[in-house]
Amino acid sequence: MRKKEIRKAVIPAAGLGTRFLPATKAIPKEMLPLVDIPTIQYIVKEAVNSGIEEILVITNSNKHCMENHFDRSYELENRLLESDKQEEYNMICDIANMANIYYVRQKEPKGLGHAILCAKSFIGDEPFAVLLGDDVVENHDGKPALKQLIDAYNSVQASIVGVQTVPEDDVSKYGIVEPEKGEDVLNRKVKLRSMVEKPKKEDAPSSMAVLGRYVLTPEIFDYLETQTPGAGGEIQLTDAIKNLMISQSVYAYDFEGTRYDVGDKFGFIRATIEYALEREELRDKLQAYLKELAQTF
Ligand code: UTP
Repeated sequence: MRKKEIRKAVIPAAGLGTRFLPATKAIPKEMLPLVDIPTIQYIVKEAVNSGIEEILVITNSNKHCMENHFDRSYELENRLLESDKQEEYNMICDIANMANIYYVRQKEPKGLGHAILCAKSFIGDEPFAVLLGDDVVENHDGKPALKQLIDAYNSVQASIVGVQTVPEDDVSKYGIVEPEKGEDVLNRKVKLRSMVEKPKKEDAPSSMAVLGRYVLTPEIFDYLETQTPGAGGEIQLTDAIKNLMISQSVYAYDFEGTRYDVGDKFGFIRATIEYALEREELRDKLQAYLKELAQTF
């Protein structure tokens, strides 16, 4: 089999963001900032730092501001130059030069699997990466989460789902993987037997949850095309990956890094505080404020 590099990534960002209403009525949740950077910019940066050359964002009619964010903005650039704000000017230009980003609309929110299917002609016959706009992963000076998955893909040439262990009480919120019998679940990379979407705690085959990063072979599109709607009436990516396992090996990779579910209010607040504490200009003030606040609890 010819070895194919992972060059392309898909960022599905056409969900309704109902957990974050009313903010997401007119603003895509991917544009909500962690401190001052929209979450989608963290995701694009992770993809670029993982060696991705071309990115397709799946959007809907409510999401033009994402396109504007990654485009040039001549008026703003000129004004910044005229007022001698070189640092801000560079920052704005750098965003527009981050990556080759393309957009396609998902005409109806028919689920994550359906959103990925919208990328079929962009991807063609290559393995590709998927990063969910909801899941921000910070691995500081270590390898980005997606790069860890790409390296795992390169060693087995098979689809990889990024996982981390979640508390047993939380398994019902996630897609949960079932390792192949005999696999050592303490290894970072394990071959899978199956997957189940949002199982009850007592039915969960493990506590390893799929958390927003995938490397998939293009055969996934064959399954997505014929997939009938599953849980919630949506075309589920989990169902298609489960079907893919019948004809190909699929692995889970337990990636390193702190993952924030920024599509959830608490996850978003936690990420905002932790990213703010990383900022030199905010750290001391925020720490002092948090200490003072904690005394009132
Ligand atoms: P979620 O279920 O977390 O996103 O989908 P959502 O539907 O926007 O959020 P809530 O639950 O209503 O608050 C996971 C990812 O799949 C994308 C979302 O944008 C998110 O990145 N998605 C989901 C689509 O692109 N299209 C869909 O039809 C559904």
